[in-house]
Amino acid sequence: MGRDRIQYKTADQIRLMRRAGLLVADALDAVRRELRPGVTTAELDAVAEGVIRSAGATPSFVGYHGYPATLCISVNDQVVHGIPGPLQLAAGDLVSVDCGAIVAGWHGDAAFSALVPGAEPDPRDVELVAVTEQSMWHGIAAMAVGERLNAIGGAIEDFVDDRFGLVEEYGGHGIGTAMHQDPHVLNYRTRDRGPKLKAGICLAIEPMLTAGTPTTRVLADEWTVVTVDGGRAAHWEHSVALHEKGLWVLTARDGGEAGLAAIGAADRFAPVA
Ligand code: MF3
Ligand code: CO
Repeated sequence: MGRDRIQYKTADQIRLMRRAGLLVADALDAVRRELRPGVTTAELDAVAEGVIRSAGATPSFVGYHGYPATLCISVNDQVVHGIPGPLQLAAGDLVSVDCGAIVAGWHGDAAFSALVPGAEPDPRDVELVAVTEQSMWHGIAAMAVGERLNAIGGAIEDFVDDRFGLVEEYGGHGIGTAMHQDPHVLNYRTRDRGPKLKAGICLAIEPMLTAGTPTTRVLADEWTVVTVDGGRAAHWEHSVALHEKGLWVLTARDGGEAGLAAIGAADRFAPVA
């Protein structure tokens, strides 16, 4: 008691965060349309920056602890925090794209993984991307008023089971007037079930899965996180508002309606009016 450092949002504040969330969705959609062999990750970064700046908003990653770009683009064995540059994507590459934006002081943060078109995809890669996305939806659906924070990690871990590696060094986070707020959101179950979730909490849920062993290391650029065994990785993320009536997935264009329905949690979907 009295130690709660979580920023709980009002309905009006959640509506502002929705604007940031939709802009992040726009930027990620624009990047997805440009995913093709030969495109460089720097070109993709410019696409996202253009979408965000044209809306009069600010990319949130630029300058964050000195980070130099609008997106994190992590390819194949890169898990998260890959820096855009001259790398040209190839057909069949597994690409994870993470984007954050600030609108009127409020943050949105989301990521998707996809395979670069132009090659017959490896079924194991397709499964890795799909299971990572579904694990995110299971984590999201575990958010409920009165539920414990670690129900999210428990739901993700149970869903992934032993099909893929589950990265433990990174996790989700509170989000609001800063990109990273309390609490840290683990993607796995712990004995400490954590605080009870209260209406107004906004969390970024972002599981990272690996084809092989989930151990990671950071490259000499001090950002890029790769798997130690060289296996491929996927990363999905949405920013989610929990309120009295249910969940609103701020960075999903449909507010999360389809993603929640797909895992049998349609009843959790509740946009703030
Ligand atoms: N968006 C990442 C996250 O999901 C953080 C990116 S690190 C940055 O929390 F330096 F690029 F901003
Ligand atoms: Co995040």
